[in-house]
Amino acid sequence: MKKHLIIGDPIEHSLSPKIHNYWFKENKIEAIYEKQKPNLKEIKKIIQEVKDDRIYGMNVTVPFKQEVIKYLDKLSPLAKKTNSVNTILKIDGKTYGDNTDIIGFELSILDLKVSLKNKTAIIFGAGGVVPSIVVALQNLGIREINITNRTSEKVKLIKSNFSMINEVKWGDLGNYDIYINATSVGLKKNDDLDLDIKNLHKGKLFYDVIYNPPMTNFLKGAKNHEHQISNGEKMFLYQAQKAFELWYGFSPKIDNVLINFLKND
Ligand code: ATR
Repeated sequence: MKKHLIIGDPIEHSLSPKIHNYWFKENKIEAIYEKQKPNLKEIKKIIQEVKDDRIYGMNVTVPFKQEVIKYLDKLSPLAKKTNSVNTILKIDGKTYGDNTDIIGFELSILDLKVSLKNKTAIIFGAGGVVPSIVVALQNLGIREINITNRTSEKVKLIKSNFSMINEVKWGDLGNYDIYINATSVGLKKNDDLDLDIKNLHKGKLFYDVIYNPPMTNFLKGAKNHEHQISNGEKMFLYQAQKAFELWYGFSPKIDNVLINFLKND
């Protein structure tokens, strides 16, 4: 029986065990996927378990995507570029960290059938997932990426790796084609960034990386003002699909049965 693990904090609400255990069953793979909230000292030991073949594959979520890097033997070019690892496996005896958040975000945008060619975006937040979104937006051909964050220093850090980024003062809404919430505001039901969007032209895309709850106040407000909206569900599904593919060499199925299964307890 192969063991898989996701580490994060908080981890209670992660749907990764549910989706991967579903795929294991569907594809008759003898494996089990668990979740753990480790303290910082435990992370090294957990990565060693991958090396010792006691864990077959791992996912990593907030706030450990950067923390795990120092314990890994090798990184994919994308993990290096974003300084962010969400998937771990063993290749040729070495622990290997990869980033499937980038392709997850890209595929979720392609599903929306919107072209980002020559478009402009603003990202709210400057946490761990933002470099992955920046790379994905670049891959999709975007012209301009702006970032705004309550704490300006964090934007400056990202900017030191991605010089094309433009920092926007927190609170300035500007006028862009795509508005992306990458803050943690919205995870709790009544959380609200309190954006005053009533004067924006209609028909923009509002994307929230959060998928649980499915309808944040960020998206609710955008919908009320006739903008296109998307939550982070597809990004979650696609990053999981890519992680599974790295472990097992084929792409598991995403369909409505799976999506409904994830929605229900
Ligand atoms: P990490 O920074 O550890 O990667 P994260 O959950 O990925 O954590 O990022 C949290 C993001 O949400 C940050 O951009 C954070 O802003 P700060 O850098 O100023 O802390 C943002 N955030 C969290 N609570 C917020 C709030 N009440 N208002 C605005 N932004 C908030």
